[in-house]
Amino acid sequence: MIPTFSLEAIVIFAAGLATGVFATLFLRKKTPKVSRGAVVIDASKVAGRGAFAHKPIKKDDIVERCPALEVTDKDIGGELLNYVFYGSAENKRLVAMGYGMLFNHSPQPNVAYYREDGPTGAELIIYALRDIRKGEEMYYNYGDDWWSTRGETCE
Ligand SMILES: C[S@@+](CC[C@H](N)C(=O)[O-])C[C@H]1O[C@@H](n2cnc3c(N)ncnc32)[C@H](O)[C@@H]1O
Repeated sequence: MIPTFSLEAIVIFAAGLATGVFATLFLRKKTPKVSRGAVVIDASKVAGRGAFAHKPIKKDDIVERCPALEVTDKDIGGELLNYVFYGSAENKRLVAMGYGMLFNHSPQPNVAYYREDGPTGAELIIYALRDIRKGEEMYYNYGDDWWSTRGETCE
C-alpha cells in the first residue's frame, strides 16, 4: 500500500528540511582565522603558516610591534632555533612575541625589522618596505647565513 501524506505533513517536512539546510550553510561555526591589527596568520605559499596582510599597508608603516625577550643561545635549541632572531651579542637570541616569529623568508622581502629598546624592554618592529596589498604574504629576508648554516634551501 502506498502511504499518503497530508499537505500539512509535506509543508512541515519541507520547512524542517529548509531550516536544516539554512543552519548548515549559514549558522555553522566557521574556523576563524587568527588576526590582529595588520596581520592574519594563514597557510603560507612557501612553508607551513605565514603572515599575511589583513588590510592594505603603506610603505614604511609598522606592521607589527613584537615585545621581545632576549635570552642566551643556551636557552634555545631544536626547532625553536629556526624561529628566534639574533640578539645584541653573538651568544644572544631574541624571542619575538605576537606574530613576529611566523614571517617566512624571501630574497625579495616586502617587510624588514629593527630592534627598539624602550623602558619596558626590547621590541622587534616589523615594517613595510613597500606598499603591500591586502591578502599578500609578508616576508623578510632571513639572510644567506640562515640557510647555509642549516643546510636548508628556500622556496
Ligand atoms: C620563523 S619560521 C616561519 C613560520 C613557519 N612557516 C611555520 O609554519 O611555523 C621558519 C621556518 O619556516 C621555513 N621557511 C621560511 N621561509 C621559507 C622559504 N622561503 N622556503 C622554505 N621554507 C621556509 C623555514 O625552513 C623554517 O623552518
